[in-house]
Amino acid sequence: MMSKQDLLLLMKARHSGRSYDTTRAISQEEMDILMEAVRLTPSCFGDEPWRYVICNKQNNQSAWEKLLNCLDESNQKWAKDAQILIISLSAKNFRKSDKGENFWANHDTGAANYALMLQAAAMNLMAHQMGGFDRDKIVERFNISDDFNVMSVIAVGYEEEGAEINSRSTNNLDWNYRQIADQSSCDQVIIITMSNAANCFIHIYNADGSRAEMCGNAARCVGYLIMSEKGTEHITIELVNKRILECFKVGDKSIKVNMGKPLLKWHEIPLSTECDTLHLPIELEMLKDPVAVNIGNPHIVFFVDNVNEIPLRNLGPKLESHVLFPQKINISIAQVEKSGEIALRVWERGTGITASCGSAACAALVASTLRGYLTAQQTSVDLPGGKLLIEWANNVFMTGDIGFL
Ligand SMILES: Cc1cc2nc3c(=O)[nH]c(=O)nc-3n(C[C@H](O)[C@H](O)[C@H](O)COP(=O)(O)O)c2cc1C
Repeated sequence: MMSKQDLLLLMKARHSGRSYDTTRAISQEEMDILMEAVRLTPSCFGDEPWRYVICNKQNNQSAWEKLLNCLDESNQKWAKDAQILIISLSAKNFRKSDKGENFWANHDTGAANYALMLQAAAMNLMAHQMGGFDRDKIVERFNISDDFNVMSVIAVGYEEEGAEINSRSTNNLDWNYRQIADQSSCDQVIIITMSNAANCFIHIYNADGSRAEMCGNAARCVGYLIMSEKGTEHITIELVNKRILECFKVGDKSIKVNMGKPLLKWHEIPLSTECDTLHLPIELEMLKDPVAVNIGNPHIVFFVDNVNEIPLRNLGPKLESHVLFPQKINISIAQVEKSGEIALRVWERGTGITASCGSAACAALVASTLRGYLTAQQTSVDLPGGKLLIEWANNVFMTGDIGFL
């Protein structure tokens, strides 16, 4: 049985390259498999409105050349190296005459073409569709009946070894999240989806489009929204790292989140080499000797006398990408007051300086307790964006208000 990831991996591997291996032919058996993928495509009334005219350079060079000459010049330049050229047609009417015009035919043919392309990718073949061709020429030269629309021409072949594959940067979802974050000046974009293990699943994207495993503040906001919608005072949220966060409504706009247990072993942070997580061997200007804590995402906490004296904007990027952190790191600068309160400033991995970071506040309390700077395992953490109450009793709990922008 295929895993959930398998199909996504195949979809990512499929691409429309332009460098075909001219030496590798495609067998009839391989073509039959591609047509089987087409046959399995769903269609309106199961009518299968697609038709394919297959021109194989190996066994019908004249048809193949005839079709090549119908392509736009820019497409001919690279499609000339593909072993197979296919005309994809879509029937205008249903096969049963009483059903009349098939409104869905082009839709279904597009789906069948994609099935063909994915199956090709699964066989390490490359299928590249083209809309750039002379439709009238194809109709005339291949004697296409007026009952069909010519949808596309598909080049199929083995890709040349070592061919450069263009990244799909403009279609990349991460790129979209970066744009959204940019336009709304937010630190994170949260996507809420269904979960089998909790009331909902959250996908967290940083302002640079990268993915984050955990965001305590997002959990409070999402918790508030879902609890308001469901009219309950408790819900659960699943994260990409499989953690389940419990959210409780403890006041009108006040939400408490069970953030789970902190992880403290070097490989759990994770660090690239074994070392004492209570005293990491890192020193940068006035910052030294941080504690590492993973509370669903990795953090280091530096203790200083005055948080406002630290040039975090300069030091943050250098520390975030330090070799000790294979998955990069969130950086907290903590000042433990005599009262036991913690003043905190945070450089968030993938985002930069942030007004508030719930998981950093949790990491700061854990680090302060482990270092013996706090007697009670509960305190208020003061961030530029507001205060959070943090408690560590086996699990770490974070309580704070939510607000609307
Ligand atoms: C209907 C259709 C027509 C296309 N026409 C052309 C074309 O004429 N020439 C070309 O080089 N690529 C063509 N493409 C390929 C697209 O440019 C390509 O799918 C898109 O850039 C995304 O890249 P990807 O397939 O690698 O994800 C076409 C794709 C489709 C679906």
